[in-house]
Amino acid sequence: MPEFTDRSKMKLMPASAKISPLFFLLLISWTNMAWSQQIRPHVPLPDEPVRSAIFEECSACHGIDEYAYHAQDKSGWQNLLTELHGDSPQLSVSSSNSEILLNYLSENFGPERNPFPREYIPQPVEEIFSDVDAQNFLELTCTECHEIRVYDRNGPTGYWRNLILEMRGNGAQLSDENLERLVEWLARTQGP
Ligand code: HEC
Ligand code: HEC
Repeated sequence: MPEFTDRSKMKLMPASAKISPLFFLLLISWTNMAWSQQIRPHVPLPDEPVRSAIFEECSACHGIDEYAYHAQDKSGWQNLLTELHGDSPQLSVSSSNSEILLNYLSENFGPERNPFPREYIPQPVEEIFSDVDAQNFLELTCTECHEIRVYDRNGPTGYWRNLILEMRGNGAQLSDENLERLVEWLARTQGP
């Protein structure tokens, strides 16, 4: 080997040894950030008459996805909205719209739900699902509400995590650990 290779290696080694821990730290925090940013509820726009009530009273300032961060009964929603908006002069909801909105909110984002997490740090998966494990798990966990609706879909980890967190919001019972095992299996077998 020519001598200069050894010399350049000697020069490079200490430099890269200094950089790599920092690089890893950056990578880890970037990955965590990217993960937590991907996690976001999606609330479909409801049908009439709620749709118009939302357009008239709510959507001028912010979207409706944020509703999923909360789980309250009717009076809880009323208090929360007052608390959140203070005495905002722009927010004076007509009493008929107020009734429509509070019914919608408490029916769709009621106390029986698990509110969508604002921050979610995925647990590392220690023991992965086999195909049979995953299929049994889906059968047990999902068919309480509807048929298994994953086999016609593909997506990356973030897509699946968001979907399953949303299902947990709807009331599906999954531990954090099983949630991540399922997400890992879905991304592995039904990736993009
Ligand atoms: C005049 C502007 C305005 C209107 C109209 C308005 N909001 Fe808000 N809303 C805000 C602001 C500002 C915040 C943030 C308050 C805070 O974080 O302290 C907020 C926060 C919220 C939150 C909490 C969001 C979160 O991230 O947890 C919910 C839920 C909400 N609003 C629902 C509604 C509903 C339902 C209506 C219609 C009845 C409505 N808002 C109308 C300005 C508005
Ligand atoms: C407690 C009830 C409940 C459970 C349990 C549940 N879901 Fe859902 N799921 C819903 C509701 C409500 C919707 C939205 C309305 C609809 O599309 O039927 C939905 C919709 C979906 C959709 C379509 C969403 C879209 O945006 O296209 C998929 C996919 C799905 N669920 C997958 C699952 C999977 C996978 C599980 C098991 C881990 C599961 N669900 C468990 C209630 C549930």
